[in-house]
Amino acid sequence: MQKLRVCVIGTGSISDMHLQSYVKNPDVILHGVYDYSKERAQEKAMKYGASRVYNSLEEVFQDPEVDAVSICTWNNSHAEISIGALRGGKHVLVEKPLSMNVEEALRVEEAVRESNKNLQVGFVRRFATNTKVLKSFIDTGKLGEIYYAKASCLRRLGNPGGWFADIERSGGGPLIDLGVHIIDICWYLMGRPKVKSISGNTYHKLGNRGNVENLSFYKAADYDKEQNTVEDMANALITFENGASLLVDVSFTLHAKKDEIQVKLFGTKGGAELEPELVLVSEENNTMINIHPQVDHTTFDFTNAFQGEIDAFVESCLSGTKPVAPVEDGVEIMKILAGIYEASEKKSVVTFS
Ligand SMILES: NC(=O)c1ccc[n+]([C@@H]2O[C@H](COP(=O)([O-])OP(=O)(O)OC[C@H]3O[C@@H](n4cnc5c(N)ncnc54)[C@H](O)[C@@H]3O)[C@@H](O)[C@H]2O)c1
Repeated sequence: MQKLRVCVIGTGSISDMHLQSYVKNPDVILHGVYDYSKERAQEKAMKYGASRVYNSLEEVFQDPEVDAVSICTWNNSHAEISIGALRGGKHVLVEKPLSMNVEEALRVEEAVRESNKNLQVGFVRRFATNTKVLKSFIDTGKLGEIYYAKASCLRRLGNPGGWFADIERSGGGPLIDLGVHIIDICWYLMGRPKVKSISGNTYHKLGNRGNVENLSFYKAADYDKEQNTVEDMANALITFENGASLLVDVSFTLHAKKDEIQVKLFGTKGGAELEPELVLVSEENNTMINIHPQVDHTTFDFTNAFQGEIDAFVESCLSGTKPVAPVEDGVEIMKILAGIYEASEKKSVVTFS
């Protein structure tokens, strides 16, 4: 079988998950890397055995020896790089979020249509073991009709700073960074219903809590506690055309006792908790029962999930099948994220037709 020749664009933190997963996939040749920082790109090329370090995006787009790219840059360049790569005839795996706003997302969708190439959005939680197990139960009707979901990803001290805290490069704070994952995973498991209305709030109350001492947290390479232009907390109620609803809250900083992640789904025949640990809930013989699936990973298994994401992308490019997280899903999730920011700004419900 023909191998897929890949270039990874953006060689910062998350690129390691892409690079190591490509290296482990026998159907891939890791051809090249590119980053604004040539030094960082060279370091990663050496570490993972990529033969070429590019000097510009144009060089990547025009290289006939590149079949596909992974885009692991700041959010503000996802759309432009996706479009450039598609026009250069490359398949694209773009990190989440697909773009900074809906207009950009629609332009990417158009470029996918024109190019006839694959674009997969980096909704990595779809490839986690606990998600795949739960999806198999949902697909066989064990939850019945899912009419409510509730997702939370709360950090009390977790604004990474750097580009994450700069709205011009990130497009927003915890909502676009963390909310994108938990909203997508609920929406995907609920059967991808069409959004009908959104009410939401964003708060800029605590800032980045850069004053806090003696408690460590993940910081971007260029962390500066004085710089922060993103919200520190957001919540929303999203209602779908089929009547189902999703309640969500996320934070980079909050006066919370501890960090927490929760993803819960409720259906007519059963319920489920995906996070913090996979549990199925049901009723049998007039008795309520909680079922604990015996699987290797009951919470998000980061490394396996990334390997699954990369393997699925490679497979879809080589076989010409549709990706599990196609561009239209990226567009729908972008509509929801933008809808929450808009509802918050307008202080009213945003409706979709
Ligand atoms: N799927 C996940 O769980 C997950 C986790 C973390 C980050 N991400 C996403 O991955 C992306 C990168 O995040 P990160 O944490 O690796 O950031 P990072 O700052 O560690 O790395 C980003 C790299 O991209 C380079 N870069 C930025 N814009 C560029 C451009 N236009 N051209 C060339 N190089 C460019 C920077 O120089 C840097 O080396 C973001 O979109 C983020 O949302 C996803």
